[in-house]
Amino acid sequence: MNVVPKIKTNTKFDVVPLTKHIGAELRGIDLREKPDDETVRAIYQAWLDHLVIVFPGQKLSQEDLIRVTGYFGELGELHRPPKFFPKGYDKILPGIMMISNIRENGEPIGALPDGEMMFHHDMIHAEVPSKATLLYSVEIPSAGGNTLFASGYAAYDTLDPAIRNKLEGRKALHHYNYGSVQKGDNKGTEAFGECVHPVFRTHDDTKKKAVYVNRLMTVKVIDTPEDESSRLLNAVYDHAEKKEFIYEHVWRLGDLLLWDNRCSSHARTDFPSTQRRLMLRTTVKGTVRPT
Ligand code: SIN
Repeated sequence: MNVVPKIKTNTKFDVVPLTKHIGAELRGIDLREKPDDETVRAIYQAWLDHLVIVFPGQKLSQEDLIRVTGYFGELGELHRPPKFFPKGYDKILPGIMMISNIRENGEPIGALPDGEMMFHHDMIHAEVPSKATLLYSVEIPSAGGNTLFASGYAAYDTLDPAIRNKLEGRKALHHYNYGSVQKGDNKGTEAFGECVHPVFRTHDDTKKKAVYVNRLMTVKVIDTPEDESSRLLNAVYDHAEKKEFIYEHVWRLGDLLLWDNRCSSHARTDFPSTQRRLMLRTTVKGTVRPT
């Protein structure tokens, strides 16, 4: 059972934890206005403490979204080659990604258009993966399309010691075809990214360790026989995706979410293809190679 601590009142906003391990809603902030430096620092700390923060009821322009992204670091660029940008990208500001199933003349206007998506860490397949992702809801289906967030810290801390000892100090290969939502589906583009990182990552701000492999993008543990690698990885995924480590976000219009890709993974539930879903997404550049 999740024990949800009491509301903590801050000078400028309230932090309402959403589960024991991950997620908090920050109430009393209108991000159209620039918060003072002390408030930005307090938001940053709340984010480090809770891994995923929700700013409900926002009314943001694209410019606002880019400004808010800057409170957490440098705005990330899109990694897939421009020739693979979805159709609607010429209508949005550089640095913003449209996540949407809406189609014009049969072609999706945004990335990751349809259905359920496996757990993953954004850009784990890059040398310096994204530190954070922001996702802002513009149109949502009446049901489904929820985003699930799993705490990599909680998973690491409670992992079976026999598995943890086998994987401690090891590295894993990650591969991603841009646009794919299930491992091995044919929904991605021809462009991909590939990289090797530690199986357990030390967070560069908190110095805590987190599980840093995922079901969608991790291919194998390096220097390990294939069957042992997949047995160990599947055991880690099954553990890391347990309900008790997860916050499931049911979207409302105007929610802005910020998550930490260094210590959490996320997935998406299915939603009706007949209903529109449109999100604007930005990322914050990572500053270090994972260690
Ligand atoms: C993502 O993984 O970036 C998209 C998640 C979502 O569409 O909810």
